[in-house]
Amino acid sequence: MFPLTKLLARTGRQIFIFTRSVRHHSSLTAELIENMDKKSTWDRFYTETSTGTPTFKNFEWFFGFSSVQDFIMPLLQTGSHPDTLLHILDMGCGTSALGPSIYRESAVPVRVTCADISPVAVRLMQDHAKVKAVRPRSPSSQIQFVELDCTQLDKHYSSNSLDLIVDKGTTDALLRSKEEEGKAALVLKQCLRALRSSGSLLQFSDEDPDVRLVWLETAVQEQGGGAADVGVQEVGVLRGVCYYCYYVTPKHVKQ
Ligand SMILES: C[S@@+](CC[C@H](N)C(=O)[O-])C[C@H]1O[C@@H](n2cnc3c(N)ncnc32)[C@H](O)[C@@H]1O
Repeated sequence: MFPLTKLLARTGRQIFIFTRSVRHHSSLTAELIENMDKKSTWDRFYTETSTGTPTFKNFEWFFGFSSVQDFIMPLLQTGSHPDTLLHILDMGCGTSALGPSIYRESAVPVRVTCADISPVAVRLMQDHAKVKAVRPRSPSSQIQFVELDCTQLDKHYSSNSLDLIVDKGTTDALLRSKEEEGKAALVLKQCLRALRSSGSLLQFSDEDPDVRLVWLETAVQEQGGGAADVGVQEVGVLRGVCYYCYYVTPKHVKQ
């Protein structure tokens, strides 16, 4: 087992490090650097990070729920429809505990969908949920784990149907792949279509605001009609790297 993998981030501007024992680390690292948007890469990643560990352990990219809960939980308000389930998507959930933690902690009823392109990650999450069921604060809350390609959200969600999309490292992965902005811009477009006008997309990222905000604003403008408001707040510094929460809030929802 090897202790450390380093990844070169987009445009070589930053290096971020995650600590986790990974077998055959050098070839996996190379694969991740080249192909962070590929299902096969992530299947391999989750297979190798889970193999040889006797019990399931959530893998957290950057940080876990406790670091970001203050950005997420205040958004969970039912407004004038207290019995309606808020629909939340953890997009590219991997094996993170973020989605299950939102499900557990939300005082308002939520339907949390933890979705990932990797069937390996989804199966690990489903198996873990069967073994260790989480009890939600709201008895009507629901959680599910699904295999889904977020470039095709329109196949799964009608427009104006999601209240919150959380993305911890997923857009980063797409932006850092060979295809770079094309896939990430498509995902942003799909998110804006799927979100309710009262909804939000939160992207947790280590990318500097001078790069990500310009990209977000440009991508939003290219969709026409000033489709969304964009903003950023600092999450904090972890292992010497500053992390951010990027907000994207639709202004108009296309039907
Ligand atoms: C950097 S990891 C972050 C995982 C998780 N959100 C976390 O915080 O630990 C990026 C995740 O995005 C997933 N992913 C990559 N491309 C995807 C796509 N097109 N659709 C859905 N998930 C995707 C990967 O399988 C991986 O789990």
